[in-house]
Amino acid sequence: MSIIIDKENLIFQLNTPKTSYIMRVFNHRYLAHVYWGKSVKTPDMENASLNRFIGFSPVAKNEYGYCVPDFLCQEYPTGCGSDYRNPAMSVVYADGSRTAELEYESYNVYRGKYRLEGLPATYVEDEVEADTLEIVMRDSVKNLKVILMFCAYNQLDVITRAVKIVNDSDERVILEKVMSASVDYETDEYDFIELPGGWGKERHIERTPLRSGIQSIESRRGASSAQMNPFFAMVGHNTNEEYGEAYGYNLVYSGNFSAGVEVDQLHKSRAWIGINDYDFSWILEEGDSFTAPEAVMVYSAEGLGAMSRTYHKLYRTRLVRGKYRDEVRPILANNWEGTYFNFTEEKIVDLAKEAAGLGIELLVLDDGWFGKRNDDNCSLGDWYVNTEKLPSGITGLAEKVNACGVKFGLWFEPEMVSPDSDLYRAHPDWCIHTPGRERNETRNQLTLDLSRPEVCDYIVEAVCKILDTANISYVKWDMNRHMSELGSAGLPAERQKEMPHRYMLGLYNVLERVVGTHPDVLFESCSGGGGRFDPGMLYYMPQTWTSDDTDAVERLFIQYGTSLAYPTSAMGAHVSAVPNHQTHRVTSLKMRGDVAMSGNFGYELDLNAFTEEEKEEVRRQVAEYKELRTFVQKADMYRLKSPFEGNDTAWMFVSEDGMDIYAGYFRVLCKVNPGIYRMKFTALDPEARYEIVGENKCYSGDELMNIGLVVELHGDFMSKTWRLRKIEKSN
Ligand code: GLA
Repeated sequence: MSIIIDKENLIFQLNTPKTSYIMRVFNHRYLAHVYWGKSVKTPDMENASLNRFIGFSPVAKNEYGYCVPDFLCQEYPTGCGSDYRNPAMSVVYADGSRTAELEYESYNVYRGKYRLEGLPATYVEDEVEADTLEIVMRDSVKNLKVILMFCAYNQLDVITRAVKIVNDSDERVILEKVMSASVDYETDEYDFIELPGGWGKERHIERTPLRSGIQSIESRRGASSAQMNPFFAMVGHNTNEEYGEAYGYNLVYSGNFSAGVEVDQLHKSRAWIGINDYDFSWILEEGDSFTAPEAVMVYSAEGLGAMSRTYHKLYRTRLVRGKYRDEVRPILANNWEGTYFNFTEEKIVDLAKEAAGLGIELLVLDDGWFGKRNDDNCSLGDWYVNTEKLPSGITGLAEKVNACGVKFGLWFEPEMVSPDSDLYRAHPDWCIHTPGRERNETRNQLTLDLSRPEVCDYIVEAVCKILDTANISYVKWDMNRHMSELGSAGLPAERQKEMPHRYMLGLYNVLERVVGTHPDVLFESCSGGGGRFDPGMLYYMPQTWTSDDTDAVERLFIQYGTSLAYPTSAMGAHVSAVPNHQTHRVTSLKMRGDVAMSGNFGYELDLNAFTEEEKEEVRRQVAEYKELRTFVQKADMYRLKSPFEGNDTAWMFVSEDGMDIYAGYFRVLCKVNPGIYRMKFTALDPEARYEIVGENKCYSGDELMNIGLVVELHGDFMSKTWRLRKIEKSN
C-alpha cells in the first residue's frame, strides 16, 4: 500500500516510487497541503505545515487554536471566505450566500483506482498498480459534501486527482467553479512552461519565470484547442532536460479548461487546473452530484525529460485503450493533400495500388466522399456516400482497396453540420446557437449541440451505419470549428451555462458507443490538425493528427513541444509533398521521412506523383519504419537539442529493454565553414558496445555518450539518423 495514514494526527501520505505527496488536517478542520516532491519519510508536522498571522488577513479560531486561511497551504480552497487567493471551488447557495467553508469529515482508502462516471481517466488493470485515498470534506452549514480523490501509482511517479461534489441538502446549489486540483507551494522560485499555439503551429514551448499575480492558460473555445493545451509545468529556474525539479499538470478533458499559478504577497504560489469557470455553472438539485475531470500530476527531480517519460508511459499503457494500445500502428497514406476534394473512385483505387507497391498498409479517404460535398460549403451531417463520385459506394470502394492489398480508412466530422445539408434543413435547432442572433460560421459550418441526447444518438447511428456496412479499418475523427453564439435549444434558461460541459459529456458518450462497438478499428482524432490533442481524446482514440502543418521544419517544433506531455505513439506524422502546402518550403524527402518516423508514420500526398527515384527512397523509408516501429512507438524518448534554442534539433528513442536505439539529428540551415557538431547520445549503458546498424561500426556506450559522433550535414534542411543495437558488455 503506497498510502500511509497517521490516524491520530490525521496525516495522509501518498508515495510513488520516487515521490511523496503529503496532507494533514489542521486544527481538526482544514485540509492543509504539506509537501509534494522527492520521497521523504513523514515529516515533523510542526516543521512542515506553517500557520502565521499576516496583516489584513482574517483569523479563524476554534477550540484547537487559530488559523489564517489566507496563509495556510490548502488542498482545496474555497471562495468568498478568508483565503483571498484563487479558489478551487465557488458556489451559490439557495439563500444567495457564497461563503463555503469545507471541513475535514472522514477518509476512505482502498487498493486500485477510482472511476469517474462518463469521463475519461487513466486506469489500472490490476488493483495492485495503484492506491486511492478519498477525503470527504463538508460545508456543514449547507450540507454540501466534497469528495477529494487522490490516486498514487505504484510503479510510476504519478498522482492523479479528481473531485466529486454531492448536494446532501434539501435545497438547490449552483456550482460556479470546480477545479480538479489545486496545489500550494511555499515559494515562487519556479518557471512556468506552457504549450500555446494556433492552427498549423500547435504546442510551441514558452517558458517564463513566475511573477506576482496570476499567470494562466485557458480555452474558452469549447475544445481544448490548438491555441492553448491543458498542460503546464512548474520547474526550477535551472531545470533542464536532465536536471532539476519539474511539476507537470495535465487535465484529462477536451473542452474549456483553465490552469495557472498565482503568486501571492508572500511569494508563495498556488497552482490549479480544471474546467474553465468562464461560461460555466451547474445546478445541483437535492441529492445531485457533479464530478470534475481528472488532473494528472507528475513530479520529477530529474528534469523535464523524466517528467515527460512518465507521462508517456502512463498514457501509452494506462490511458489509451483497445487493441492498438499494444499493437504496432499501420503505415498509412492519406489522400487529403494529394487530391483535396478532387478525387474519383478510380483515383483512390490507383492510390491504393501505388500504396501496396510501396509497402504502405492502409489507404485513408479523407473529406469529400458524402452528401454532395465537393468543397467545404456543404453536406456535413449527411453521412451517406456520394455515389456519383464513388459508384461502388463505400462498401465497394473498400473492397477494391482491399483487393489491392491495403486496408481502407475513412474520414468523418460527426460533430458538425453544414447549413446546406439535409440534416440542418430537418433540424435547424440541433446546432449550438443563441435564439434571435446570427449563427456565425467557421469554414461554412456550425457545431452540432452534443449536450442533446437525440443529437448524440443521431451521430452514433449515422457513423455506425457506415462502419458496419464496409470493411473499414481506420477512422479519422475530425472537428473543424470552435463553439460560438453559445446556447442550447435543449436546456432551460437557468441551465444554459451547463452546455459546454454537457457537450463534452455527450461527446464522450458518443465516442464510447462508437469506438467501444468497433474494437478492431483504429481511430485517430483530429481538429484542424492537432486542435484537440489532449488526454481526454486519447482515452478513446490512441492517436491524434498532430498538425495540418506537415512541413518538416515546422514539425520539429510541433513534435518537440507535443512530446513534453504526449507519447510518440500518439502523434500522427506524415511525409507530404514539396513545396509544402502550408509553408511553401522545399525540404529533402529524407528529412521529411526522418521527422515523420519520430511519430506514427505515414504519407499525405499523391503517391502517383513520385518519380522512380523517390519511390525507391519511399520503399526504403517504409521498410525502415517497419523495423523501427516495433520499439519506437513504445520507447523512452530523450530530447537532446531543442529547436526552440537553435538551428539544430536532436532526439532519441530507447527501447524498453535498452537493446534498440533510434536517434535523429536535424539541421535547419546550413552554415558556411561550420564548426564541429557531435551527436552525444544519452541513457546508454557505458560499459556496453553498440553496433550502428547498416554502417558496420561499433562504439562503446561511454564513447557515444561523452565523445559522441561527428555529424556531417551539408545544405539546408538536412537530417541524419542512427539505429543502434546493443551487442555486448565490454568487460
Ligand atoms: C481538417 C484536417 C485535415 C483534413 C481536412 C478535411 O483541416 O485537419 O487533415 O482532414 O480537415 O476537410
